[in-house]
Amino acid sequence: MERWSLGAKVVALALLLSAASHGRELPVKSSDRSFIYNHTLAKTLVEYASAVYMTDLTALFTWTCSRCNDLTQGFEMRSLIVDVENCLQAFVGVDHSLNSIIVAIRGTQENSVQNWIKDLIWKQLDLSYPNMPNAKVHSGFFSSYNNTILRLAITSAVHKARKSYGDINVIVTGHSMGGAMASFCALDLAMKLGGGSVQLMTFGQPRVGNAAFASYFAKYVPNTIRVTHGHDIVPHLPPYFSFLPQLTYHHFPREVWVQDSDGNTTERICDDSGEDPDCCRCISMFGLRIQDHFTYLGVDMEADDWSTCRIITAQRVQQFRLELAGNIMMTKHDIDVSIVEPSVQNRLEQF
Ligand SMILES: *[C@@H]1O[C@H](CO)[C@@H](O)[C@H](O)[C@H]1NC(C)=O
Ligand SMILES: *[C@@H]1O[C@H](CO)[C@@H](O)[C@H](O)[C@H]1NC(C)=O
Ligand SMILES: *[C@@H]1O[C@H](CO)[C@@H](O)[C@H](O)[C@H]1NC(C)=O
Repeated sequence: MERWSLGAKVVALALLLSAASHGRELPVKSSDRSFIYNHTLAKTLVEYASAVYMTDLTALFTWTCSRCNDLTQGFEMRSLIVDVENCLQAFVGVDHSLNSIIVAIRGTQENSVQNWIKDLIWKQLDLSYPNMPNAKVHSGFFSSYNNTILRLAITSAVHKARKSYGDINVIVTGHSMGGAMASFCALDLAMKLGGGSVQLMTFGQPRVGNAAFASYFAKYVPNTIRVTHGHDIVPHLPPYFSFLPQLTYHHFPREVWVQDSDGNTTERICDDSGEDPDCCRCISMFGLRIQDHFTYLGVDMEADDWSTCRIITAQRVQQFRLELAGNIMMTKHDIDVSIVEPSVQNRLEQF
């Protein structure tokens, strides 16, 4: 608690600086095609982004977990991917009523979301995004997707699903750090499949790159919605300094800011700058809260068990785990389950 309050002061200071000047917004060009925000679709996707936090893998891959119902009923799970060392989790499957492949990704916050948020302030734009001049991103978010099992496993599962069902659309989603990774995943898929086939909707994601990156992003993944909620602090981090728009982090469009007041919920469709001053940015830094990070559209976005990066699997999986020294590729009802433990991380990098 002590450390968090210190961290909170530091965050507050940086946000104060970022709010200090209202310079001109740097326009981020987005395509003419306007992606229409649909509340029902958002509610469905937030339920997928919530389900990927569940730790009971058996209930998850049979789609019987406590969060695996409501609008996501009938989901066909095709691939469940777990990186034990980094506490990352993702799944790929088909939503037949949306006629789309769903990719949901969960990040690594583990038991200390507070520390994770506090650290967000120091994240550097330390990696040039490949083949995009001037585009800079945070290497940690990028490599959690690109340099772990996720990239290989997700792209191959999407490829297989499109073989079975034809070239249906892919919708990528995630909350918090999972949203940051979902962004890189959507960009990667859009560059392979074409931007028209890929949609992205994230919830409470932090900024991931600079203005140049945001421009490329808007061009390659035009069907993007970044949902923010009330006073959630995470979309404000790492900070955006409006007097240094070229040099600091910059969100890509398009934000949809959801607010609840007195039982009424409003959803504001923001402008295409990525940093609409009239959306969540209009909240003063003193008003930012962590609580709003854990509920989106009324859905619980916390892990069901923060105590460790605990993974509960069926006995059969446990057994495979021993036999294969950690690297599991098993098939049950045609579902791939990949679990990667520290011992195989290095091998994966050769892929
Ligand atoms: C919103 O999305 C749902 C599917 O989630 C669809 O059934 C409905 O027709 C869409 N509404 C509009 C207005 O496009
Ligand atoms: C991203 O991953 C690919 C392999 O999947 C690798 O070749 C490439 O170097 C990685 N990019 C970066 C910038 O690390
Ligand atoms: C909530 O919305 C309803 C319908 O739009 C409106 O009549 C009511 O006054 C709103 N309540 C508050 C507290 O804003």
